Amino acid sequence: MTTFIHGGTVVSPTGSQQLDVLVDGDRIVALLEPGSTAVGSDLAATSDVLIDATGKYVIPGGVDGHTHMEMPFGGTSASDTFETGTRAAAWGGTTTIVDFAVQNPGGRIQDSLASWHEKASGQCAIDDGFHQIIGGVDSDSLKGMAELVAEGVTSFKLFMAYPGVFYSDDGQILRAMQTAADTGALMMMHAENGIAIDVLVEQAIARGDTAPYFHGTSRAWQLEEEATHRAIMLAQLTGAPLYVVHVSAKQALEQIATARGAGQNVFAETCPQYLYLSLEEQLGAPSFEGAKWVCSTPLRSREEGHQDELWRYIRTGDVTTVATDHCPFCFQGQKEMGIGDFSKIPNGIGSVEHRMDLMFQGVVDGRIGLERWVDVCCTTPARMFGMYPRKGIVAPGADADIVIYDPKGHTTIGVNDTHHMNMDYSAYEGVRIDGHVDTVLSRGTVIVDGGEYLGRAGHGRFVKRDLSQNLI
Ligand code: URP
Ligand code: ZN
Ligand code: ZN
Ligand code: ZN
Repeated sequence: MTTFIHGGTVVSPTGSQQLDVLVDGDRIVALLEPGSTAVGSDLAATSDVLIDATGKYVIPGGVDGHTHMEMPFGGTSASDTFETGTRAAAWGGTTTIVDFAVQNPGGRIQDSLASWHEKASGQCAIDDGFHQIIGGVDSDSLKGMAELVAEGVTSFKLFMAYPGVFYSDDGQILRAMQTAADTGALMMMHAENGIAIDVLVEQAIARGDTAPYFHGTSRAWQLEEEATHRAIMLAQLTGAPLYVVHVSAKQALEQIATARGAGQNVFAETCPQYLYLSLEEQLGAPSFEGAKWVCSTPLRSREEGHQDELWRYIRTGDVTTVATDHCPFCFQGQKEMGIGDFSKIPNGIGSVEHRMDLMFQGVVDGRIGLERWVDVCCTTPARMFGMYPRKGIVAPGADADIVIYDPKGHTTIGVNDTHHMNMDYSAYEGVRIDGHVDTVLSRGTVIVDGGEYLGRAGHGRFVKRDLSQNLI
């Protein structure tokens, strides 16, 4: 089956150009100058599916490198399954996710990966890969890393936060980084000083500061900066490439920018919540409302100017990717577990559906350029996680994961509007986007078509990933 997308502007990190796109089966086979050749008009006449993209952007499907579908966490489980979460992602123009398989201390990482494959199998509407969380660094899990790399799971996340749950001490981090350096795997880090945070949390609760706002103040930026710096030093010592997930403090980014300036293989991911939302406005919302925005790292103070600095670091390139850290919980029954004690609120925000739109708004607002939007949301995540050029680019030979994005369209985010995630609230209720995801193709199949969902559970395939490409 062939599909011909004509009249649109193809956007890549290196530029934008009016080009028609020919898809054969599940791959892109050609980009053609519009209407310039007889070949073009023949194709229009003979293609099975014709898509008019006049006045619209033709971009690679979004690659969200950080999601947690149905992850057991904080005494409950993230509310999107692989089925509901990937359907919502598709609606929002994301065609690949990389989710996290979770190893708890004592378990085998091979077994945890197998159980995540089982959860996802037959459920996904779009393609999915896995990172592996190592919750218990020991000689067995370290030995298992090379095995997972061979199976296409080429990145491993450690936690400097959550003592007693996923926490790794500095010796464990050092050993895992040595193994990552040996295998070429990417080390991902949740960089917050969890030991110090737990003391501040205990003190806040003892003082009676139990509201969601104090989740933010007890996870102080100093403890993100400190952990980020420590991770960078350990990575430098071992030679492991380091990817710091969900960076929210401007001071942590300064650490990363300095290391990158010195030539170190260190990368930063941030998320839309840290660019748009704040400690004062969201976490500090009246009564228990702020629980909707409890996540870690936390939303930062707007008065301190973190949000503007994060946008700036996207422009400088020191923020390498934008992912969602999609980890949704319903307000009723889940977030409510922490009424009277913020430390019992399950940590996470769901936004897998809205990343492409929210970041496009950054283009409209003059925060970033059009090409940078595609770069941080599609192309660089694909390269970072060993999926390029199959994913992340509209080019011959690539998977036909394509989004037709309408810059004249509008999207209102809210539970009664564009919401397909399995959450009973939206973290962006009422936000209006000056753009719209019109059509989404996953490997050549139209899965969203102007407000109609045509995808199906089981269409998505596991993406066996290569080692990360050298991005510095
Ligand atoms: O609050 C968050 N970020 N929840 C998901 C787990 C993690 O640390 O990424
Ligand atoms: Zn984390
Ligand atoms: Zn996460
Ligand atoms: Zn539209």
